[in-house]
Amino acid sequence: MKKGHTVVASGLNTKAFSKEQVRNTPSLTNVVAKKRLGEEMISKVDDLPSLPTVVTQILNLIQDEQSNASNFEKYLRQDQGLTARLLRIVNSSFFGLKHKVTSISQAVVIIGYQSLKNLVLAASTSKFLEGAFPGYGFKEQGLWQHSFMVASWSQKIAIKLGWAKEEAEEMFVAGLLHDIGKLVMSSYVTEHCQEMIMFIIESKGDVCKAESALMGVDHAEIGARIAQKWNFSNQLVNIIKYHHNIEESSGSEKEVSLINLVNYLLIKGQYGMFENFPIVLSLDEFCKQTLNITDENIEGYSQEIHASAENWEEC
Ligand SMILES: [Fe+2]
Ligand SMILES: [Fe+2]
Repeated sequence: MKKGHTVVASGLNTKAFSKEQVRNTPSLTNVVAKKRLGEEMISKVDDLPSLPTVVTQILNLIQDEQSNASNFEKYLRQDQGLTARLLRIVNSSFFGLKHKVTSISQAVVIIGYQSLKNLVLAASTSKFLEGAFPGYGFKEQGLWQHSFMVASWSQKIAIKLGWAKEEAEEMFVAGLLHDIGKLVMSSYVTEHCQEMIMFIIESKGDVCKAESALMGVDHAEIGARIAQKWNFSNQLVNIIKYHHNIEESSGSEKEVSLINLVNYLLIKGQYGMFENFPIVLSLDEFCKQTLNITDENIEGYSQEIHASAENWEEC
């Protein structure tokens, strides 16, 4: 474990790092330095690892109405690692399948081509999301669990709310990628884990404010730039950009609100997170009104999510 991780793993010993020390760290107080850091983060979007190739190819297949199960099989046959990850997800107790699935063609029959498409996308992103992200409060595999559960539950709740099947599937993709900006910022945030935690505490649990204080830019902005770079739909760009700031979104309020709600429920339940990590999220009235849901609905979703999280295992 890297040095910076211990503060979180050992129970948030933030007292070891005083507010004065944080304030007096020149790079944090210097506006110019922060601006430069923000620009550096933005430029990092240009040299992301091989994520774009794999993910965009999968997304292209998903969006291509002509694509079918055999296209996926052909694609997957070239990538044994991806196939193995996909089968691990399909066979995880999260899905509760009665029989073990051992091949892609079997998976198509059992879970259906539509669901399989999304799981292939999830498998293609899992290796990028599965490390520990201690500055964000995520344990090993935590951001992956968070992203996958936001994806699954956004799709499920969209269906409960009576949205069209295609819309619900888009919500899976949006849920999976909503925090993609954290990948670009993660190495800096991990290196400056203690400062990040101090800023989260100082901003009363607001991660975006803490990121801006630390680096001059937040993961929603960086994520939206990644999404633009990969030619994602305007809606997906909007969802990523405004998932913590729903009232600012123009045109995709319903979708942004759904991701905001599910993200809120997952963070509140601390799934995949270090206990008592100081992130605090609250649910906006605007979100409830836009989705036309009650507090009882939300409580019901929260309980269902909790029950499903008990079946979560590393996959
Ligand atoms: Fe986020
Ligand atoms: Fe999130």
